[in-house]
Amino acid sequence: MPIAHPATDARIESLLARMTVEEKVGQLGVFADMVRPFAPDVNPEVNVSNAAQVLEQVRAGQVGCLFNGVGAAQGREIQRVAVEESRLGIPVLLAADVIHGMRTVFPIPLGEAASFEPQLAERTARATAVEATAAGLHWTYAPAVDIARDQRWGRGAEGAGEDTFLGCAFAAARVRGFQGEDLRAADSLLATPKHFVAYGAVAGGMDYNYVEIAEGTLHDVHLPPFKAAVDAGALTVMTAFNDINGVPASANHAMLTGVLRDAWGFPGLVVSDYTADMELVAHGYAEDARDATRRAFLAGMDMSMQSGFYAEHLPGLVESGEVPVALLDEAVRRVLSVKSAIGLLDDPYRSLDPAREVDTSQRAAHEALARDAARRSIVLLKNEGDVLPVSRQARIALIGPFARDVDNIEGCWTLFGDKSRYVTLEAGLRAALPEGAALDVVDGCALEAPLDGGIESAVAAARGADVVLLAVGEPQRYSGEAQSRTRIVLPAAQQALAEAVAATGTPVVVLLRNGRALALEGAVRDAQAILVTWFLGSQTGHAVADVVFGEYSPSGRLPVSFPHDSGQQPFFYNHPRTGRPETPEMTEFKARWREYPNTALYPFGHGLGYGRIEYGATRVDAPALEWDGSLQVRATVANTGARAAEEVVQLYVHDRVGSRVRPVRELKGFRKLRLQPGESREVVFTLSRAQLAFTGADGRFAAEPGAFDVWIAPSSVAGEPARFELLASR
Ligand code: GLC
Repeated sequence: MPIAHPATDARIESLLARMTVEEKVGQLGVFADMVRPFAPDVNPEVNVSNAAQVLEQVRAGQVGCLFNGVGAAQGREIQRVAVEESRLGIPVLLAADVIHGMRTVFPIPLGEAASFEPQLAERTARATAVEATAAGLHWTYAPAVDIARDQRWGRGAEGAGEDTFLGCAFAAARVRGFQGEDLRAADSLLATPKHFVAYGAVAGGMDYNYVEIAEGTLHDVHLPPFKAAVDAGALTVMTAFNDINGVPASANHAMLTGVLRDAWGFPGLVVSDYTADMELVAHGYAEDARDATRRAFLAGMDMSMQSGFYAEHLPGLVESGEVPVALLDEAVRRVLSVKSAIGLLDDPYRSLDPAREVDTSQRAAHEALARDAARRSIVLLKNEGDVLPVSRQARIALIGPFARDVDNIEGCWTLFGDKSRYVTLEAGLRAALPEGAALDVVDGCALEAPLDGGIESAVAAARGADVVLLAVGEPQRYSGEAQSRTRIVLPAAQQALAEAVAATGTPVVVLLRNGRALALEGAVRDAQAILVTWFLGSQTGHAVADVVFGEYSPSGRLPVSFPHDSGQQPFFYNHPRTGRPETPEMTEFKARWREYPNTALYPFGHGLGYGRIEYGATRVDAPALEWDGSLQVRATVANTGARAAEEVVQLYVHDRVGSRVRPVRELKGFRKLRLQPGESREVVFTLSRAQLAFTGADGRFAAEPGAFDVWIAPSSVAGEPARFELLASR
């Protein structure tokens, strides 16, 4: 499945024919952009160089790509050196970690997944691409499509949560958004589904840790989002740091070649994560740098990021015959084909237009989108006594370290955000309130420590208010790379603040700031209302105010389960039922903890709005699904409340018996409806056996005839199932 246009094939072949081995290897090198360094330290310092050395490498044809620098004018200069001063004039790719926004910052991907609106993520990715390509970039190392079932892991913030079906929808949407309709367009940004594969399954939720995983789980849970991204047109894939059952992902032939190339026909290039080939030595999988280079390259890793190993050892490996030159040519052909596919061979200065970089005419539209994406990502967990929405005439106390904070708004992996445009909680609330409204703002404590007199001033403010908005949560640096936590709770100082404020008796609405599901405790868990606000990006304050004052009825649903306790991790809704599932009646000698049941405090798919949503019974149009047939499943959903609301109607199935035990529920569809007060609608989903397939005990991916439960429900635990039979093929 070639990607380059046939006409450029000839040009690529003629380039290949003229390239020395060193020049071929040069196309496989990815290095930090020291010419226009911009990104804060998001990686450990390895192989550090400087602008002059990088330009010299470019001039010598030793660079395929530079990453994490921005700026159109300087990017143009880099490209000029590549095109005019190197022997063959091959343009370089300019990449960066633009994960959820460039200058305008959107919610962290986990937050956006809570919207259950992939089309929204496509729009925010598109806006991101417009801003990133204006800043002199061709390629983003996003979307992260790792399935995260253990919230102790910090990088769940970058993905779409614990569910594969939702993860596939967002992976494809983000690839489409970044790349747009035409890869050759100046505002098309190459996407990179990462980290291939099973990075979210690291043992203990500890980043970079080993992964021991069943083949079925690997194929049915962790690989599908990558397949969805590749099917959506992704032309690059980034490898993972972890091993997979003892074989590091970055040198895993079964995955990089067996699955990606042979099974899926992926035509694009594979780039390593940062120094992942160098790390094969630390893993104990390679003897030394030369052995690591050989193993990574022969497994199917085309481009090596930052280690310099390919430049240093590949020529010798080709010389010795350990790496066939035909394989080297294949890798270079893929890199050149990607450069051709995005139009770089025709227009090396594509996306390097300084005039575009200073054009801010789209910023207002992007900020409006950021505000809409942010409020659609907010999840209302509880709302006792309808304390929300809050009246603008109420006396409000905004209390907590996030009240005025601007440094913990953007979320992890935000390298280029325009902080001058960030809207804090206080700013957003004040903008939504009339002049002179009663809004008292008190920090109460610092992010991780008490403040002298902080609790006293917070208690005084709470006593003088009709309602407290309690802005607490995780500092931004608690999620993202290398940020695994053993206890997914609030910092103690914030919990103490919450207890003191709640003790005043003033109703509390928690505005939770979080990069993962948290184990909520004490007064935070017991507050009258809880809004999960993730890290919402540039428009945080406005989006939260829209929901708090009822301009927007919260419509987000949890993409990750909120546990009772950290000790339950890894916890995910679609778990097997075990041989001793507990029931409300029977808890002795059952699969549960002494302290807690085997359930979530707030389950996957849960979320409330300001309407009153009621579901009718789930019904199937027939008792059986023919092997090659389809089956309609339907339910009526009504808003019996006085306010309009959006509802995420979810379709779940349970395969009651399988050749491998099956999850108690699996998401197979969802639809977000807007329901006016009094409005009801019949929702219909169509099932076929394709949606019931899994990797069975024989290793084949197929559905198995038998009995199924099916739900149309508001969450992964709600509702009563209907039942149908999948009939064997006649
Ligand atoms: C980091 C991350 C990866 C990122 C890369 C380049 O270690 O794992 O997601 O794209 O290095 O910064």
